[in-house]
Amino acid sequence: MQDLEKAESELDEVRAKCLKCEKCALCKTRTNIVFSGGVPNRKLMLIGEAPGYYEDLKGEPFVGKAGQLLDKIFASVGLDRHKHVYICNTLKCRPPQNRDPLPEEKEACSEYLKAQIDILQPRIILLCGRVAVSSLMDTKLGITKLRGRWFEGPNFSKMMPIFHPSYLLRNDSREKGSPKWLMWQDIKEIKKVYDQLDG
Ligand code: URA
Repeated sequence: MQDLEKAESELDEVRAKCLKCEKCALCKTRTNIVFSGGVPNRKLMLIGEAPGYYEDLKGEPFVGKAGQLLDKIFASVGLDRHKHVYICNTLKCRPPQNRDPLPEEKEACSEYLKAQIDILQPRIILLCGRVAVSSLMDTKLGITKLRGRWFEGPNFSKMMPIFHPSYLLRNDSREKGSPKWLMWQDIKEIKKVYDQLDG
């Protein structure tokens, strides 16, 4: 079996376990579990926060307005979620009213995220927003200070915090130095490193 095929079948096993999960109270309010989206691959993984209203309905990550903006950001450098990015979230179930994940919810869900990272061992991990940052980094710095910088991630990956697209939706300016402009710098840097990866 090819290396990636093996990883996909391991991911399927974790997904099957996750789809029955009742480890925290979110199992009572969810419509669907949102395990992953995009495509399993060894190069690029994006970790978001948690499913929102539309993701919970569809069982797929980043399908609402924030997701549409994320797709545009990827497309601006020739990346396509269906070909190049594995997408997952810190939490696999939607917190009611999209409130911040509780520590016990993050703890309960962490085994699934850890398995996704360990199985795929992506070379680049993007931490999309502060909740994703808090799931993999031990820091008190806010996303504004962290974004755009490379850190060493799990399995010697390159890990970069980036703004969450919902934040960009609330900050419309494209002026130099604005969140959207900074995101544009970050995605160009990410693509540069992506293009240097072999395979
Ligand atoms: N926001 C996230 O962080 N993840 C999603 O899947 C949707 C919105």
